[in-house]
Amino acid sequence: MITRVRGTEDVLDLRLYNFMLDQIKHHLTVYNFHQIDTPILEHTDLFVRAVGTETDIVSKEMYVFQTASGESLCLRPEGTSSIIRAYVENSVEQAPWKVFIHGPMFRHERPQKGRWRQFNQMSIEVINTPSIEQDVHFLKMLDTLFCDVLKLENSVLKLNFLGCSEDRKAHREALVAFLETIKDSICAQCLVRKDKNTLRIFDCKNEECKKQYHQAPKITDHLCATCAQEWQQLQTLLNVLSVSYVLDPTLVRGLDYYNKTVFEFVSRDLGSQDAFCGGGRYCLGKEMDAKTDLPSIGVGFGMGRMLMLVEKNLNKLTLPQEAALHIIIPFAAEQKQLALLLAHELQANGLCVDVLLEEASISNMMKRANKMGAKFALIIGPDEQQEGTVSIKNMLKGETTVVKQIEAAKFLKA
Ligand code: HAM
Repeated sequence: MITRVRGTEDVLDLRLYNFMLDQIKHHLTVYNFHQIDTPILEHTDLFVRAVGTETDIVSKEMYVFQTASGESLCLRPEGTSSIIRAYVENSVEQAPWKVFIHGPMFRHERPQKGRWRQFNQMSIEVINTPSIEQDVHFLKMLDTLFCDVLKLENSVLKLNFLGCSEDRKAHREALVAFLETIKDSICAQCLVRKDKNTLRIFDCKNEECKKQYHQAPKITDHLCATCAQEWQQLQTLLNVLSVSYVLDPTLVRGLDYYNKTVFEFVSRDLGSQDAFCGGGRYCLGKEMDAKTDLPSIGVGFGMGRMLMLVEKNLNKLTLPQEAALHIIIPFAAEQKQLALLLAHELQANGLCVDVLLEEASISNMMKRANKMGAKFALIIGPDEQQEGTVSIKNMLKGETTVVKQIEAAKFLKA
């Protein structure tokens, strides 16, 4: 048997997923975001430039292949780079440009609960705005989405501020000096990161390293006057808007493009992959050959992880009622034509109807209709065919009523 590729999923019921997606899209519309789409296939260089060669995504997780003409293409591992590319390539003039994409992303990670190699992600961005107040508006939008719309419990917003490049330079020097003092007791990966991509030592999962990094210099202690003021303003306005958060000085995120605000929403309901949402501020204008920096803020969340959380809190949501199903049962081949005509008539009236066209005994067909959850079974035998009627059985009460075929829709709607 050919099985599905490791780390991918067959989804056999999308009802809850689509309900959740509709709620999210509606919420985003309320905040004046609109949906766009970008290709799944992109030039590998896009992510090399934007996400960074030292990141796990680019160094080991991308699905890259060479085309016959020698181009290096990849399956997109994230949406932000593509959205910025689209903004620049299509010369979009709107600023800020508030958009989102929803679709599959691909990362060759070790699959486990909540982590797939192909997963659907929502990437939401406010492009081309330097205003720190946009970050507040954005975080409020996410906070209400998770708490009020999707009614998630136990979701916590972790917040940090990475400053500008000058701040990170000053912090990096202090951090390298600190790491020098403990270099004999940190792991090999952190030793490499110390020289190559120092901030990312905070992503280390090794408990020994993590414990020592509690004493490490904090980036927020190295902010220039402008960044310090923005960091303060961000916290003040979040308090004003009643957005709860916890400060996490070790939060740096696994992609290289962030500056200033960075955040993650985590939930203890998820187990080890507890982050279900992450994002922050970034400037990718230069990497995309734009004329300006394009300061922006955005977020990505995996729809699979979100679904796991929504499933835990299902009792708090009001799911839409499914339409009642009615099943037409023709006795034999001679009644099938009439059954199809009646089905069409009822469906044109907006009723949810199916026809049993695989010949079986009447009792077997009644059992099937019951199993399918039919509210009414509409039986057409030779007598009904002759008289222009249909016998409608209420599957719950067991009562049967004979009505004229032309009045069946009215009867079912009543
Ligand atoms: P990220 O943290 O790499 O950020 O991913 C964002 C979210 O995508 C994660 O919090 C998680 O919910 C989901 N995710 C990531 N990898 C997987 C996986 N293998 N399986 C299932 N879900 C996964 C970004 O992608 C940035 N582009 C976010 C962003 C947007 N920053 C600014 N704008």
